[in-house]
Amino acid sequence: MRKLLFTAFASLALFAVSAAADDVADGEKLYKTKTCMACHGSKGARPIQSYPAVAGQNEKYILTQLQDIKSGKRVASKDPATGHPYTEGMAAVMHILTDDDLKKIAKYLAAQPPAKPKAIEPAPSAEDLANGAATYKKLGCVACHGVDGKKASVPTYPNLAGLQRDYLVRQMTDMRDGLRVNGQSKLMLNIIKKADDAAIQAMATYLSQIDRSAK
Ligand code: HEC
Ligand code: HEC
Repeated sequence: MRKLLFTAFASLALFAVSAAADDVADGEKLYKTKTCMACHGSKGARPIQSYPAVAGQNEKYILTQLQDIKSGKRVASKDPATGHPYTEGMAAVMHILTDDDLKKIAKYLAAQPPAKPKAIEPAPSAEDLANGAATYKKLGCVACHGVDGKKASVPTYPNLAGLQRDYLVRQMTDMRDGLRVNGQSKLMLNIIKKADDAAIQAMATYLSQIDRSAK
């Protein structure tokens, strides 16, 4: 009897593991075929323009953002190149995905290795980087986004290290200016209000150059 029970549990556990693996494989297929790759690049790590790298981001955070971009709750400032909000191109394709698809894609992306930092021109000086690090510490960002932005303290919060500088600047500015208010954004509002444009630029430069793929 005991042996039988053990076998039953073992096969249940195996079933759970293979179901999770199936979700990741399904998520990969969806990511590759439902336009995501065109904007966020191979395995979510090579985004175009100032779009976000999504590889190795927290699964729960990814899922809420996908839902909020789909429903239109997450808004962004206008892309000067097109005159349309940055979220619009993505929002326009989201109707082809079901809620279940979004869950699978979130699982897949969270399991990918984070992007390597993208070099910025002109290269920031050691002083620029130290200034960004000091501002990040002084304003208390560490409490939620972790040391060097490498690991958020709560799985529904985003990791920041290695995201593109221009993307980081835009998100902080959009949150401070009350454009991006979806999800848990208001947790940050009081803090980001204390940052002027120069402080945002400094923190974005610093965070963008931290390699989260290196432990
Ligand atoms: C036309 C280009 C485009 C397509 C197609 C697209 N995205 Fe996006 N995505 C963006 C942009 C741009 C943003 C950031 C919007 C902003 O600046 O506020 C974004 C944001 C995101 C975010 C939030 C990232 C963060 O750190 O908050 C996730 C996750 C995401 N996209 C995943 C996907 C997935 C999965 C697909 C396919 C179903 C997809 N995107 C399709 C352009 C695109
Ligand atoms: C009390 C917790 C908290 C603090 C402190 C905090 N944040 Fe956040 N931050 C969040 C949450 C939660 C989100 C995601 C909001 C959502 O649900 O859409 C976020 C989102 C962000 C984003 C967008 C990331 C992306 O992938 O789009 C950036 C950039 C950011 N924070 C930078 C900072 C910086 C810099 C500071 C310090 C000045 C800071 N945050 C302080 C909780 C916090």
